[in-house]
Amino acid sequence: MEKIGNGLMERKSYEIRPIMKHEWDSAMQLAWDTFLIFEAPEYSIKGVHNFKSFVRDPLLKRMYTYGEYVAIGAFDNKNIVGILGVRNANHVSLLFVDKDYQRMGIARALLNRYFKDARTAGIDHVTVNSSPYAVGFYHRIGFVKLSEETEKDGIRFTPMRMELE
Ligand SMILES: CC(C)(COP(=O)(O)OP(=O)(O)OC[C@H]1O[C@@H](n2cnc3c(N)ncnc32)[C@H](O)[C@@H]1OP(=O)(O)O)[C@@H](O)C(=O)NCCC(=O)NCCS
Repeated sequence: MEKIGNGLMERKSYEIRPIMKHEWDSAMQLAWDTFLIFEAPEYSIKGVHNFKSFVRDPLLKRMYTYGEYVAIGAFDNKNIVGILGVRNANHVSLLFVDKDYQRMGIARALLNRYFKDARTAGIDHVTVNSSPYAVGFYHRIGFVKLSEETEKDGIRFTPMRMELE
């Protein structure tokens, strides 16, 4: 968050770190609330229902608990304001920033944190199925389109990929 006053600009910093188990439910709530605003209007009822099932899936929570699903959060004090979820070590499956915190570099910071760990682990590329809303964002980060937008289970997405150097 940037506060502008007396001609001076003060940049607020956010904590970027793996989410803890007791934060899982609020992270998924943030994903759902943000999805409803920015993505649901573009999807069919089936797509909205499928996404709801995805964020509430006990299997996803279990994968996270056993370290098979990476979940990194951005925190403003103790409040979660951004969530990045990665499956299969290199596929971005969730990326949501609270509507009041967007365009402040939080999603980029979440991805950069993950990219750093991924490079250390020897991962050389990352993929995402971008929502229609986020294609421009992923382009800014350095992802390229693999194909045109497609649809599966009511969810519209553009497959994208980024090489990690
Ligand atoms: C997409 C989303 C995660 C971006 O989060 P954010 O924190 O606002 O993004 P950042 O501030 O880190 O933006 C990084 C850059 O992308 C640009 N950008 C952000 N959102 C953008 C958009 N929708 N279209 C084009 N450019 C965008 C920013 O201006 C910034 O540009 P810069 O390189 O000049 O600094 C957020 O808008 C969101 O939660 N959207 C709704 C959910 C969604 O669609 N998620 C993706 C699921 S695959």
